Amino acid sequence: MRGRYISGKTKVCGIIGDPVEHTMSPIIQNAAFSDMGLDYLYLPFKVKREELAKAIDGVRALNIRGLNVTIPHKVAIIQFLDELDPLAEKIGAVNTVVNYGGVLRGYNTDATGFMQVLLEKGVEPEGKSVVIIGAGGASRGVSFILAERGANLTILNRTLSKAEECADSVSRIFKKRVKALPLDSENLTKALEKADILVNATSVGMSPNIDETLVASNLLKPALIVVDIVSNPIKTKLLKEAEAAGARAIGGLDMLVWQGALAFEKWTGLKAPVELMRNEVIKVLEGHEN
Ligand code: ATR
Repeated sequence: MRGRYISGKTKVCGIIGDPVEHTMSPIIQNAAFSDMGLDYLYLPFKVKREELAKAIDGVRALNIRGLNVTIPHKVAIIQFLDELDPLAEKIGAVNTVVNYGGVLRGYNTDATGFMQVLLEKGVEPEGKSVVIIGAGGASRGVSFILAERGANLTILNRTLSKAEECADSVSRIFKKRVKALPLDSENLTKALEKADILVNATSVGMSPNIDETLVASNLLKPALIVVDIVSNPIKTKLLKEAEAAGARAIGGLDMLVWQGALAFEKWTGLKAPVELMRNEVIKVLEGHEN
């Protein structure tokens, strides 16, 4: 951080999570602050599950400007916030907090970041048939934002009850039918027959398990758009096989960048230097891959 100094006016942002050691957010946010010449600093805070309430008191007491929130706090933090953005409220998870003079407001830029990537790539989900694999926190965000944008969803998960729970809450809020199925090759084959978009919202394929995928390559067709939320490696096995089959492949790296960019915009009120943030993430990930 040569050429940069911290002053008494420096605004502090950070990420809370546990573990937090592998996060790339400090790198991309500090690069963005520095590029824009902003007197902001972004730090990692390892906060244990049982220390969350105290940490949030600390955010108020120390006048921390903003937070990113990661595992295991995305749902639990809601009870300690003063306000919720309507989308974050529907999803039931927060990954970004802004401190407006002591009033803490929660947002979900994981979901809006995901949508931003689709729109940037010219993918309009309205009326499309989307198959989502996975029913954890990430899948919830993806399912809600896609339902809000008018997509028709089928959620497949190894644990059926979680897929049903996710489908039920999406149907209740958006008043549209969402299918939930156990993840097996028969269901996946059938669901993909008429799908426009496939989203892997599980961690399968993530480094170091880079040879794993939940989708047999013969199910991937040129007309399909394949989205993987995994950002490390940049090109997962699923994405490589999608490209080999002639399908469009969209990776998790852009989602990681956009959730950060949208958080940056909330804290600073300025347009984020998205390209620079993306290049920083690529530098770090390519360093890890070597
Ligand atoms: P996140 O918040 O990142 O979504 P999570 O809540 O732990 O993380 O959810 C992980 C998702 O990946 C779940 O849908 C999980 O399936 P289960 O609900 O059955 O656990 C899915 N997942 C993880 N490893 C998997 C595997 N080897 N095969 C199939 N699904 C897997």
